[in-house]
This record gives sequence, structure tokens and C-alpha cells, in this order.
Amino acid sequence: MAAAGRVAASRWIGRGPECAAFEKEFGTHLGADHVLLTNNCTSAIYLALRVAGIGPGDEVIVSTINFVACASAVVELGATPVFADVDPHTLNILPDAVARLRNPRTRAVIVLHYGGHPCDMNEIRSAAGDGVFILEDSANAIASDYHGQRCGTLGDAGVFSFDAMKILVMGDGGALVLTSPELVERAEALRYLGLAPSQTSGLEAMQQSMTRWWDYDVVAPSGRFISNDMAAAMGRVQLRRLETFLARRRVVWDVYQARLADVAGIVPPPEPAEGCTTSYYLYWIQCDRRDDLAAFLKDRGVYTTFRYYPLHQVPYYKTTMSLHNADRASETTLNLPLHQNLSDDDVHRVCDLVTEHAANRA
Ligand SMILES: Cc1ncc(COP(=O)(O)O)c(C=O)c1O
Repeated sequence: MAAAGRVAASRWIGRGPECAAFEKEFGTHLGADHVLLTNNCTSAIYLALRVAGIGPGDEVIVSTINFVACASAVVELGATPVFADVDPHTLNILPDAVARLRNPRTRAVIVLHYGGHPCDMNEIRSAAGDGVFILEDSANAIASDYHGQRCGTLGDAGVFSFDAMKILVMGDGGALVLTSPELVERAEALRYLGLAPSQTSGLEAMQQSMTRWWDYDVVAPSGRFISNDMAAAMGRVQLRRLETFLARRRVVWDVYQARLADVAGIVPPPEPAEGCTTSYYLYWIQCDRRDDLAAFLKDRGVYTTFRYYPLHQVPYYKTTMSLHNADRASETTLNLPLHQNLSDDDVHRVCDLVTEHAANRA
């Protein structure tokens, strides 16, 4: 509230110094040189694929367990999404599946670090081969490390979400991280209507003593994907509190792991792979009577869900494929509540209910 008040008092709530400061500070958090703040992560996904030059005739391999925006952006650009199967327990894309699906039309691979657990990026890079653009959907992985490097900085592009459901929230917001400096200028233009970055404000043009400061050109037609200082100011406060959020989420994760390890019929999630850390974004169990358990919890006031409904099962994409691991995961996986505002009592209550459900049905 204090940060929002500070922005309001400045009499400028559009894109300005708070956005620039957030980009710098988030870049420091990631160890990344080029961070572009956007109005949401969906825009960042679209921008990443657009600067990668994805278009008609191209194929993009997409982890089938992923957010719908990843497939939609591919289709919007006229390319074809090709859905890849996942590991049955981590729900991360299988490098073998990438290797199998790759062909001369493959231009990009989109991976999701499911729940915050890093994908095996070295294996994915070698499965994708040279010249294939790798986009890391890091919406779940704001502070996850893969062998000492932050998720979102390992591929050619990384995207983050700061919407109201994420760990670091600013109402709505997203970020695009690019590793190639050549792509950054184009991404900056496409983020703001396709105007050249030097031409973004009539006021600035006037201050630079241009005579007709209202003239402009576009480098390419595009949408408007910028953020604003109100959102960025909130994000900066959240960024300073990120460690505390993660510490609390870890406690919740550890309680679930300890209490559910031996419950009959429940398969808890694996810990992150050797050399990796997680952001504890999701907690997921797998069990045969998943729908029954979800209803049992719902009737007792506990919201659960399944993220992410496999894209190859979405009717719009008209695939008839079966992806064995993802198909099975979508019948058995349930996300239990995991967020930094859960009390110890809340977490133990969920564990009690899961245990009771398992005992009733044994
Ligand atoms: C994995 C993943 N990617 C991308 C997005 C898109 O984020 P946004 O809501 O900021 O557009 C989400 C949002 O839920 C997500 O969960």
C-alpha cells in the first residue's frame, strides 16, 4: 500500500521509473542482463515466439502439461504446436520425446518447470539440437536453480508470471528474459505497438527538441504489452519479500511430504533432481481415486485442482494422440493447497482429511 501510495503521489502511474527499477532488480535476482516487464506472462510467451521468428510452416514442440497460452501463441503465429509427453511423476517434458518429435520443421521447444522443479535443461538442449529456440515457461519457477543457474535464464528465452495466483504478484504482470542482446531491441519494439524503442513518448520527443514530436513510425505492427508503475511498485515490494515467501512455502511442502509419505495409495511428488532447487509453487499427489478425493475435500471446504490439463486433450487442438504418461497423470494427479498464507493448522487439516479419505476407502 505504501508503494502504491508513493506512485500515486508521484502523479504518474503509467510505465516509468518503477518499471525500470523492477526490471533491474529482477535481473539481479535472476542473474540476467535483459529483463522486459510485460502486462502478463501470456504476452511474454507471444513476444518470445515472435522475436524467435516463429511463423507459418514451423513446428513448436510444447510440453502437453502446460498452460494454454503456450499452445495458443504458437497457433496465433500461424505455426503448429506438437505436444510432447512428460515424466510420469515430475510432469516435466521428456527429453526423449523432444528427440523423437524433432524434425526439420521444428523451430522451437517450450518447456514448463512443473511446480517449480527444473526440467533437465542439458538433456533438452541436446535433444532439441542446434538452432532450435528453447523457451522456458518459468511461471512456476521464480527462484528455482538448475546447477547454480536460475530457471528462465537457461534457454534462449524465459518467461515469468506475476498474476494474482503466483508467488510474486502484482495484480497482473509478466517478464520476458532474453539471452541474445540482438533480440532485445526487437522485443522492446514489439512490446509497445511496434514503435522503435527510441520513439515511445511524444513528451520525450518534445524534450529532445524534435520539431514535430507527434510523428512516428512502426518497425512492425504489434500489440501493447507494457506494464505500469503501480504494478511494478507492488512487484518490487514482493521481490524483497520473496525469500520469506519461499521459506514458508518450503515449510508447507515439508509438512505434506512428511505426513503423506506413508498414506496408503498416495504417491507424493519427488523432490527436485540432484543439483536443482524448487520454488515450491505446486504440491501434487497422485492416487487412483483422485476425483473422489477432490470431491471429499471440496465437501469439507478445501479447494484442490489439477494443473495443467493436458493440451493434447483440449478439444480445440483436435489431436487424436494419446500420450501415456500425461493421460495417466491427468486421471490421478491432484494439487493440494500450497501458498505462503496457509497456517500450520490449515496444512495439518488437509493432511488429516487426505489420510481419513485413504483410511475410509482402504
Ligand atoms: C505455467 C504458466 N504459464 C503461463 C501463464 C500465463 O500467465 P499470465 O496469467 O501472467 O498471463 C500461467 C498463468 O497461470 C501459467 O501458470
